[in-house]
Amino acid sequence: MRISNYTFVAVTSIAYLHVAQGFQSTPVMGWNSYNQMACSPNEAKITEAINSLANRGFVDAGYKFFQVDCGWASRDGQRNATTGALKIDSNSFPNGLLPLSQLARSKGMKWAMYSDAGVRMCDTQVPSPVAGSLGNEAADADLFKSLSTEYVKYDNCYADGPLSSQNAPKASRTDFVTRFTTMWKQLQQVGITGMLVCQWGVPYSSPNGLEGPSQWTKGLSTSFRLSDDIATGWANVYRIYNQAVHIAKSGNIGPGNIADADLLEVGNNGMTFDEQATHFAFWAMLKSALMISTNVSALSNEFVSVLQNRDLIAINQDTAVKPIKLVQRWTADRDLWTGDLANGDVAVLVVDLSNTRRTLSLQFSELGIKSADVKDLWTSATVKNTSGYSKAVNGHGSLALRLSNVQRTSGSEPGYTYSSVSNGVLASGANVQPCTGCASSNKVGNLGGSSNGSVVLSNIRTSQANQTVKFDYINCEVGYLGSSNNERLASISVNGRPAQTVSFPLSGYNWATDIYTGYGVELSGFNTKGANSITISGAGSGWAPDFDRIAVIA
Ligand SMILES: *[C@@H]1O[C@H](CO)[C@@H](O)[C@H](O)[C@H]1NC(C)=O
Ligand SMILES: *[C@@H]1O[C@H](CO)[C@@H](O)[C@H](O)[C@H]1NC(C)=O
Ligand SMILES: *[C@@H]1O[C@H](CO)[C@@H](O)[C@H](O)[C@H]1NC(C)=O
Ligand SMILES: *[C@@H]1O[C@H](CO)[C@@H](O)[C@H](O)[C@H]1NC(C)=O
Ligand SMILES: *[C@@H]1O[C@H](CO)[C@@H](O)[C@H](O)[C@H]1NC(C)=O
Repeated sequence: MRISNYTFVAVTSIAYLHVAQGFQSTPVMGWNSYNQMACSPNEAKITEAINSLANRGFVDAGYKFFQVDCGWASRDGQRNATTGALKIDSNSFPNGLLPLSQLARSKGMKWAMYSDAGVRMCDTQVPSPVAGSLGNEAADADLFKSLSTEYVKYDNCYADGPLSSQNAPKASRTDFVTRFTTMWKQLQQVGITGMLVCQWGVPYSSPNGLEGPSQWTKGLSTSFRLSDDIATGWANVYRIYNQAVHIAKSGNIGPGNIADADLLEVGNNGMTFDEQATHFAFWAMLKSALMISTNVSALSNEFVSVLQNRDLIAINQDTAVKPIKLVQRWTADRDLWTGDLANGDVAVLVVDLSNTRRTLSLQFSELGIKSADVKDLWTSATVKNTSGYSKAVNGHGSLALRLSNVQRTSGSEPGYTYSSVSNGVLASGANVQPCTGCASSNKVGNLGGSSNGSVVLSNIRTSQANQTVKFDYINCEVGYLGSSNNERLASISVNGRPAQTVSFPLSGYNWATDIYTGYGVELSGFNTKGANSITISGAGSGWAPDFDRIAVIA
């Protein structure tokens, strides 16, 4: 059947570009089975999910992509002897998947599928008994097309073989582009235009050094998973959120290269209402896919109202597809994020990191804004022509705002004076390392650790006793589920005063080039008349990031 395609090679390469552009430019919204059913979906559960999404207003709210994750394929590891495609598990789906695709589409949804770029598919049983698509991409693309599939999530288990130890490889590798491009091309050929590259943010060892998926998936998928899997609990939201910081800053997110922060946990156990609301608002404003993954029949009305929040959905689906970026972190206190929308409005998210009930306050001057009309996206309250907004929130709660009629301040940025950290006095194992991307051509590494390596910069002069100091740093230690928050901590002290613990989120993948420039940290205790010192060391026995430069207000 597929042989006929090869006759049209010249035509399909043009059609492929055209079709790839045919997929929607905004993030997908829909439902996926995994967080509710793990790898055990079946006909009854999937039927219930489709009907509930339609009956409870989710399809009308925009949740259109219906996706069965792992567990749909036959557990005998065999392929269809006639077509060579994966077989559908006849125990769980005795009538196949076509009637379910038809039911979903009859309710106004689009059908989406799941497979894996390995010899086995991810499964809760390890080693997995289910075949993957590697080497059989064309036959599987045909199967997906026969089910009217429009979007495929393509995973990365068992890339090297079928053993337990080969389940979910996290070491950097060189074959991502080839394995994922093979399926992407087959999907384009059959007219399936949407694909998610799901390789959990594992480093790609490219000819230019290590890269993250935001860098290499452009043009060979419509979205990429920016992190390892989510799981229940705030720590997982925080881990993914820290991994998103540098990607949002990079400018790599946009139509055709959506950063997918993984399935939503809204409605599931393990997080408070406020944590779930913040999780949803962050995913929406990052322009992540919004894939509900819970038992929709069992959702309380308060979670339905979170998931169907029209204002956050409108921001998620904004035609500019620009993610919010981190403006500043006050470690263990709060984060301030903001992003531009297509009509000139501004999305703002302030997240409590203290995990206590408190008042979150924002002066719009922190965003270079003099005044604006503000809409509180959780309460729908609006205030006209104001210069700030405050509200009491519960632990890990958030201010989610949309500013319109935005009047910017005209004042210019204060002047900063930069110091190379390698000019400091190093102790306890800290060392100077070459850094091709650094403004100083080198950086200071080995800070912290069990020997508590440190650096002291002196002779720093500034006009401000209390200010946002800027750090150019590198933290490329990519973390995964259960092992990391995707942040490194440093102890920072001004003039020998008590040190402050400061969080530095992941800055990228390449220790020589992926510098986070201008990371703002509020520090006080500077002497405005004479010289100052800044000491950087570790917190606990963990490693601090590497540092290129520090800047204080002149
Ligand atoms: C194999 O594929 C054929 C053709 O699509 C189909 O009729 C048959 O049901 C499939 N068999 C299995 C076991 O999936
Ligand atoms: C979903 O929740 C409903 C309502 O609580 C319950 O009847 C149903 O069994 C649940 N479905 C699954 C698949 O657990
Ligand atoms: C907003 O308020 C400021 C100060 O209160 C005032 O000067 C300005 O004219 C107002 N702008 C609008 C558009 O009402
Ligand atoms: C430094 O300035 C900020 C912003 O004006 C303020 O909130 C903070 O309390 C000040 N810190 C000190 C130690 O004065
Ligand atoms: C590391 O050294 C700094 C001073 O250089 C000190 O403030 C900090 O407490 C030390 N950290 C540990 C874990 O010993």
